[in-house]
Amino acid sequence: MRIGIFDSGLGGLTGYRALRELLPTHDLVYFGDNARVPYGTKSGEVICRFALQDVRFLLSQQVDAVLVACGTVSSNALTLLERTFPLPFVGVVEPAARRAAEIASQKSGKILVLGTAATVGSGAYEKAIHAVDPALEVRSVACPMFVPLAENGFTSPDDIAAVEIAKRYLQPYEEFAPDAMILGCTHFPLLSEVIAKVLPTPVQVSAGEEAAKTMAEKIRSLSKEGGTGKDLFFTSDDPAAFRLNAATFLGRPLDGEVLRTDIETY
Ligand code: DGL
Repeated sequence: MRIGIFDSGLGGLTGYRALRELLPTHDLVYFGDNARVPYGTKSGEVICRFALQDVRFLLSQQVDAVLVACGTVSSNALTLLERTFPLPFVGVVEPAARRAAEIASQKSGKILVLGTAATVGSGAYEKAIHAVDPALEVRSVACPMFVPLAENGFTSPDDIAAVEIAKRYLQPYEEFAPDAMILGCTHFPLLSEVIAKVLPTPVQVSAGEEAAKTMAEKIRSLSKEGGTGKDLFFTSDDPAAFRLNAATFLGRPLDGEVLRTDIETY
């Protein structure tokens, strides 16, 4: 089976990395829409149009299932994608919400969701958390500046700019003292140390990793057959830049070919 993974840029690599470990013999095709990142500051209409193009492109690569490794697309366009294409989809919202709800239900019942403006505006995480346990107290905060920080490698807890930006977003939630924090945008785990320095929380839930676990379960239930364990990467921008930045993102060189695609034609 061939599994497609996509994101507005590099963030979905957090989902890719987890899925590659869980399904070592399946073939993975990753698409990063680096030419049009960020998605999280755009309208729902534009996010839906981009998401449809992204999946049409992955279908041209003969994928059998799609991991929507983007919080913004998962929270604004997943239903549209499921209605449009006869494919199994896994988004990041439901798996991360379930995990955070499990943790918070055992403690004081408080969850903080970090996402892009479009994700927070959709209210999708709150809805998914309350579907598990309506008694949980959920706060959400849009952290759009985390996306360019992650894309440009400003991720060290010693980086003054990153820490100052994190303080602006997170210090207002010190008193709330969440039991679990959802890193609801797949770029955010790159900043996990910065975030923990500013607002220490017992558990950080990575939306991309939780979604990868759900996808692996789904794939195993559909078929036991793997593939050759091959990785193929596509970007709508410069492949050399993608390779370089992806290596920083993953903390290791990218294993697999990187090709450019003109996403506007899909
Ligand atoms: N990784 C995306 C998300 O999960 C991207 C952020 C963006 O493009 O703004 O929301």
